[in-house]
Amino acid sequence: MGDRCKVVIVGDEFMSYFCNTMNLCWFLLPELDNAIRTLHRVVGNAMVDDDRFIIVGNGSTQLFHALLYALSSPDLPEPINVVAAAPFYSSYPEETKFLRSKLYKWAGDANCYDKDEPYIEVVTSPNNPDGSIRGTVVNREGGKAIHDLAYYWPQYAPITSKADHDAMLFTFSKATGHAGTRIGWAIVKDKVIAAKMVKFIEVSSIGVSREAQLRAAKILGVIADDCRNLDLKGENFFEYGRRLMSERWGKLRELGMKSNGVFSLPKYPRGYCKFTGEYTDSNPGI
Ligand SMILES: Cc1ncc(COP(=O)(O)O)c(C=O)c1O
Repeated sequence: MGDRCKVVIVGDEFMSYFCNTMNLCWFLLPELDNAIRTLHRVVGNAMVDDDRFIIVGNGSTQLFHALLYALSSPDLPEPINVVAAAPFYSSYPEETKFLRSKLYKWAGDANCYDKDEPYIEVVTSPNNPDGSIRGTVVNREGGKAIHDLAYYWPQYAPITSKADHDAMLFTFSKATGHAGTRIGWAIVKDKVIAAKMVKFIEVSSIGVSREAQLRAAKILGVIADDCRNLDLKGENFFEYGRRLMSERWGKLRELGMKSNGVFSLPKYPRGYCKFTGEYTDSNPGI
């Protein structure tokens, strides 16, 4: 698809900090906003109605920090507890502890969380590192959640329903593999939380590279167009990716079988994928 995804930017284009002063997320390029919403609608993996706020970040990593800031409160006597069910993405503890914040603190495995205190649960589904499909485990009144859906795309897992959580994270690095472009996005229901995230990104990086956003918008747009093109059925980006991932997992499983029990791989349940219209296997990206 190389040439179809080409982006040309001339020297005096995209110089301002601002992308759209009418939008709450004033550094979000309208083309990217549009491409993100269109792709989610085509794939059916997340609710992106017009009342949802899209916040772009320098990767979903920056948005994770922005959400910790937005979901915590300086009025609480103690930093809010941040938990995730083990095994979890290994960067969460470091990202949470790094600044020794007075707003939030890492509190470990959500399965063992028994404090009667405010908390934020990070839910990754499909999970890194084990590919499992997950929901919250703590489920206490007033608990907050960050849903990291980096891998909820059809090449990795069946799309069984439209995710509809208060705060969801997605990233270009896992949707298509363009990790170095450093584009992630959050889909947020609450305007106050969205505004706090925008403030965090303003203070930490005064927005997000417009060149990177344009590239992401172009590529996500081409992928969405192909998914909608019935003549290309079965040959869109996600079908291609799914085949590739499934071949790789097949080879790995063969090796596992030949290893006489030295190593084995987990079995993932099949699910009905609403995007492909058939039962598909999980082929985790991790
Ligand atoms: C679950 C999960 N969330 C977030 C990230 C980081 O994403 P980004 O490249 O958008 O910062 C990763 C990267 O490995 C990941 O596995």
